[in-house]
Parts: sequence; structure tokens; C-alpha cells
Amino acid sequence: MSKILEGKAAVVTGAGRGVGKGHCEHLVANGASVVINDIMLEEAQKVVEEIKAAGGNAVASDADISTREGCEALIQLCCDEFGKIDILVNNAGVLRDKSMLKLEDADFELVWRVHVMGTFWCSQTAAKKMIEQGSGGSIVNTTSGAHFGNFGQTNYAAAKGAIASMTYTWAIELAKKGIRVNAIGPLATTHMSKTFKDADKMPYFDPAANGPFVCWLCSEEADFVSGQVFGTGGERVSHMVQPHYGKTMMREGGWDLESISKHFKTNFFGEFGPFGILGKPYPFYDGIQPPANDD
Ligand SMILES: NC(=O)c1ccc[n+]([C@@H]2O[C@H](COP(=O)([O-])OP(=O)(O)OC[C@H]3O[C@@H](n4cnc5c(N)ncnc54)[C@H](O)[C@@H]3O)[C@@H](O)[C@H]2O)c1
Repeated sequence: MSKILEGKAAVVTGAGRGVGKGHCEHLVANGASVVINDIMLEEAQKVVEEIKAAGGNAVASDADISTREGCEALIQLCCDEFGKIDILVNNAGVLRDKSMLKLEDADFELVWRVHVMGTFWCSQTAAKKMIEQGSGGSIVNTTSGAHFGNFGQTNYAAAKGAIASMTYTWAIELAKKGIRVNAIGPLATTHMSKTFKDADKMPYFDPAANGPFVCWLCSEEADFVSGQVFGTGGERVSHMVQPHYGKTMMREGGWDLESISKHFKTNFFGEFGPFGILGKPYPFYDGIQPPANDD
């Protein structure tokens, strides 16, 4: 029986360790040839060696995906080595956590460039190649529940929210070219997760457990899936519901201030759903007031 990704050529960014490394192991085991990208070249090379030792086909790239040149060189390497590109997994990531009041521009910009611009530059270059090839293809982005809001993650939450929004937009734009675009929000014990709050109290989640679903998403079996976000890792595959307007109040002629004052609370009090990455019940119904002691 032929493997589900037999003959496919793939790029995975940030794949020298963690979640990306796991994706590569599964992509190769399911028949794909893979460019293993990581700014840490030695780590990427180690993954290539392991894959080659197991009889798979892989090549390393140390392109810096926080630059357009790096992203273009990375996608070109895949085409030079394997003759084409069918699959792109945008996985590379960094954290620079600081609360909003302490966050400096450099830390916002770095996180934005790696996650958002890197995902955009790699995807735009890959999509152009896929269109040239006339082959269609699959792009898998990496978001996070952090985009619901998470203390200390202004930059990362913004970036992951942008990635989810780009996923929806590209799915709409690229379907007619045969390109599907989805995203995962993984769960994994990695270098990155060591910095999460209460990381030492969390159970171990195998980073490679996200790989099988990424493989399936990139296969023909998932030809009806695009513009979707899934939570993966551990024992779950969880569909993230796309943001949409909920309860709506309507008024002929529109809403003036007086009618908003009169009707907002009766319509919306109690309507606000779980809030932030931890999905806590909406915490602000008692009102938010200046601190009693403001010294
Ligand atoms: N670990 C989790 O529970 C979790 C949760 C939600 C989302 N994620 C996302 O999953 C992805 C993988 O994270 P991970 O947990 O494996 O972290 P990780 O730190 O182990 O791996 C990230 C890799 O990206 C590489 N990288 C960083 N900047 C790069 C650049 N400019 N060019 C090329 N490579 C670069 C790093 O060198 C590193 O090897 C990230 O996008 C992260 O935001 C992880």
C-alpha cells in the first residue's frame, strides 16, 4: 500500500527540535521528502541524520525565516532539492513574554517578524511555486490558544491571532488554485513550553504527537478541509470555532447613545462567554474600578 504522502515535497520551519521535529518524522515516515529548517543549523542537521539513518529523505536549511530573503531561499531550496513544493508547515516560533506595560518594541517586533512575517513570506513564496507547478498544495500554519488573550503575551497573542486570521483569508483566496490552508494550535512539552506558567506542574506532552494530524491534513483525504484551526497534541484533535458575531441587537434607524444606554445591559449582561486562554467565566460583571489605593 502506498504511503499517504508518497512523492510529496515538504518544508517545515523551526524543525530542529520540539513540535517541528515531530512533524518532520511523521511527514517522512508517511512518504514525504522534507526540508528541515531551523536557525540552529546543528539541530536541523541532527534531525536530517536521524531521518536518513531511518531511510528517509531530508535536507537541512538554516534560513532565518524572520527575513523575506530567508523565506525565499528556503522555499527555493525545496524546489532545487526535490523538484517542487507540495507542503509547507509554518512552525518556527519564539517567545519574548512581558506584560503589556513592560513590553519593549524590540521584543514585539521580533515575535511579530518570526511568527507573522515569516508565515506570510514563506506562504506567499510557496503558494506562487504551487501555482506555477499547477499542483495545488497544503499549507499548515501554527497558532495557539494564546490568541484568545493571555497574561504577559501581548506580542505572541497578537502574532498567533494574526496567523489564524491569515489562515482564514488565504483559504478563501487560494482555494481556486487548489491550495488548502489550515492551522494547528499544538500542545507539547518543549523548550518553549518550559517558560509557560506552572510548566513544572504540567503533564508531559510528546511534541511528536502533533505530527500525525498534520500529515493527515496535508493528504488528499483532507481535500475538503481548508480555513480551519485545530487544537492538537496530547490525546486531542479539537476544532477551534471561527470567531463570528453572536447575539445581536437591532434598532430601526440605528443606535444612538440614549438607546444604547437603555438597552445594552438588558441585551448583553450574562452573554459574554469564557474568556482568555484558560477559558475562565467572564470575570468583569462586577465592574472594573480604579484601585482603591492608588499610591
Ligand atoms: N509547545 C507548545 O505547547 C505550543 C503551544 C502553542 C503553540 N506552539 C507553537 O508551536 C511552534 C513550535 O514550538 P515549540 O514548542 O516546538 O518550540 P521550540 O522552541 O522547541 O521550537 C521552535 C523552533 O523554531 C526555531 N526558530 C526560531 N526562530 C527562527 C527563525 N527566525 N528561523 C528559523 N527557525 C527559527 C527555533 O530555533 C526552535 O528550534 C511555535 O510556533 C509555537 O508558538 C507551541
